[in-house]
Order: sequence, then structure tokens, then C-alpha cells
Amino acid sequence: MKAIDSFVADRIANISASGIRRIFDLAATMKDPIDFSMGQPDFPVPDRAKAAAHAAIDADQNGYTVTYGLVELREKIKATLTHEFDWDPAVFATCGVSGGLNLAMTAICNPGDEVLIPDPYFVSYPMHVELAGGRAVPVDTAPGFEMTADLVEAALTPKSKAILLNSPSNPTGVIYSEENVKAICELARKKDLLIFSDEIYNMLSFDATPASPVTYAPERTILLRGFGKSYGMTGWRMGFAAGPESIISQMAKVQQYTFVCAPQPFQWACIAALDEDMSKVLSDYRIKRDVSLKIMSERFECATPGGGFFLYCKPPSRFKTGSEFVEAAIQKNVLVVPGYAFSKHDTHFRISYAVPDQKLVEGCQILHELAG
Ligand SMILES: Cc1ncc(COP(=O)(O)O)c(C=O)c1O
Repeated sequence: MKAIDSFVADRIANISASGIRRIFDLAATMKDPIDFSMGQPDFPVPDRAKAAAHAAIDADQNGYTVTYGLVELREKIKATLTHEFDWDPAVFATCGVSGGLNLAMTAICNPGDEVLIPDPYFVSYPMHVELAGGRAVPVDTAPGFEMTADLVEAALTPKSKAILLNSPSNPTGVIYSEENVKAICELARKKDLLIFSDEIYNMLSFDATPASPVTYAPERTILLRGFGKSYGMTGWRMGFAAGPESIISQMAKVQQYTFVCAPQPFQWACIAALDEDMSKVLSDYRIKRDVSLKIMSERFECATPGGGFFLYCKPPSRFKTGSEFVEAAIQKNVLVVPGYAFSKHDTHFRISYAVPDQKLVEGCQILHELAG
């Protein structure tokens, strides 16, 4: 008789559990840790969005919607994109940006097709590409943590099909320069590549509006944005994809047979959320960025974060690896994520500063002391 775990497909068994998940398991054994590991905001959903979700549930708007999502939501998203980019793309509601990434990679990857991703990357990128049968090609971006057009060009092969951009980035917070985004778009046009632009942190950008490839290559860019980080509703699993009809329709076809649709009550909630002014949250998070960066950059080499809510830091050289420092931090009851969860290199660690101000200062000071 075969062992029961031998039934698991090789492509799944070969994926190692996310580094973040392992840290969560470790966190479960810590007593009241200062938790800098969470990749989600600590502010509440705006009241008008909560009210719209309640109202939808109470009005029995709980069934499936069409695959693309409610017309009212799609029209509103389209209006914001037309305003921002003078762009009229095909748009549909996804189950978070994760849902969009899954559909995107499933829709475009033939076996062995290569998708270039920045290293460090959002933990799920390699898995989305590889589950779809493609090959994720990490492009080493240290020490500037920007995937430049030159770096992309050097990593291209005849199998390259798409570039996955993420600005502001998780885990570094780095925002790509306008010149670089433009150069990547020119390269993509020259080499006939698709661009996927994961802009999940676009509303949490502190210093400037991040450049988007939509501006320079709208004909080959698929934009993925989310509501979770922007409006504090990560558990509601809402996002959207926008881009050329010929790709969007294929992604929606996959959604029809997998996720089916984004959750209806939360689609109504997102229509309301889009009217909310989030500038107070933005200024609160800018302060958190400034406070944590000031303390941490005295002892650590930190990428300069322009958005999101992460610092990506390199410990002093007496710690041989990022994970050695993470273990030492855990001994001091501060939970941070080792860089190897996001990278082929175990050199850094990530903190999420989406925590109450007092905890933020307290935790950063402990890490500061630990670095000596
Ligand atoms: C860069 C990036 N993309 C996508 C996601 C997934 O977002 P969602 O919760 O909307 O699926 C995350 C979540 O942490 C992220 O950091």
C-alpha cells in the first residue's frame, strides 16, 4: 500500500512551506510577542464600507455575481483608472490580488515559460508561476532593490514571457523610479514581453505617486490592485485586474471555473470604500515609516521605503545570516521575518511597521540594542 502522502502531486510536495508560515508557527509558542511579522494593516475598515457590506447581506445580496463582478463596481474602478491614466481597460473583480496573480499566471504560462520576478519578492510569486507550469526567474536586485531594465535584460532568455513588477515593493517598500519604469516598458515592447504590475500598495505611498507601466505600455500591461491593504479589509479578499481585453477575458475565463466570482457583499462594500478619503491613514503610516526607519537605520542597513508598511534590513556582520538575527530577536520576544522567505539569499529580515506606535518604538529599540 502506498503511503498516504505519496498521493500528493510532485509540484505541490516540492513547494516548501512559506517562511512566513513557519514564523507564524513559532509565534504561536511565544508569549505576547511584539509582532512585526504581519503583512496587514492595523486600521479598521471605513464605516461606510462596513455599512455597505451589512446592508448587502441584509438585503439578501449574497449570491454569485457574474464572473467579472458587479457592473457598479467595475464602472467605478474604470472611472478611477480613466481619471488616473486616461486609460479604458477591461476590468474585473478578483478575490484579492492573490486571486488575480493566480488567474494571470494560469492564463499565460505554457510549460517552461519564464516570468521574471524581482528578488526579494512577495512570497507567493514563485508559487503562482510554478503552479501554472511556468518558471519563475528571480532577478537579484540587491543592494538598491529596484529591478532595473538592465537587470531584466540580462536575465532574458528565448523563453521569457512576462515581467512581474511590484512597486511599492513587499518586502522592501522601495518605489521604482519613473525612468526605470519607462525603460522597462521600452524593453518589454522591444522584446515582446507582457508586464504584470502588482500595485497593491499604491495607496500607501508616502513620498510620491509611484510610476506605473500603465502610463508607458498600456497595451501590454495587466494591472493588479487590491482593496485589502488600502482599506484594512485583507480578510474580505477583494481586488481587481485591469488590462487588454484579450488577456483579461482569459483570466476571467479561469475565474469562471475556479473562484467563480469575488464575494458579493464585499463587492458592494468596495463600491462604498472607493469614496473614502484615506489621507489620515496615509499620514499615520508615514509617521510609522519615519519613526521606525530612524531607529533601525542607526544600526541596520535598510532599503529606503517609499510605501507599503515594511522595512527590509540587513543586520550587522557579526550575525552571519538574516535568520541568525531573527532567532536572536525571537529570544527577545520580537517577531520579525527572515529574508529567505522572500529571497534566494538569507541576508536580511523584514519588519512590518503596521503596529500600534508604542509597540513599534518598543520593538525597534529592542532590535537596535540587539544589533549593539
Ligand atoms: C506584493 C503583494 N502582492 C499581493 C499580495 C496578496 O494580496 P491579497 O491579500 O489582496 O491577496 C500581497 C499580500 O501581502 C503582497 O504583499
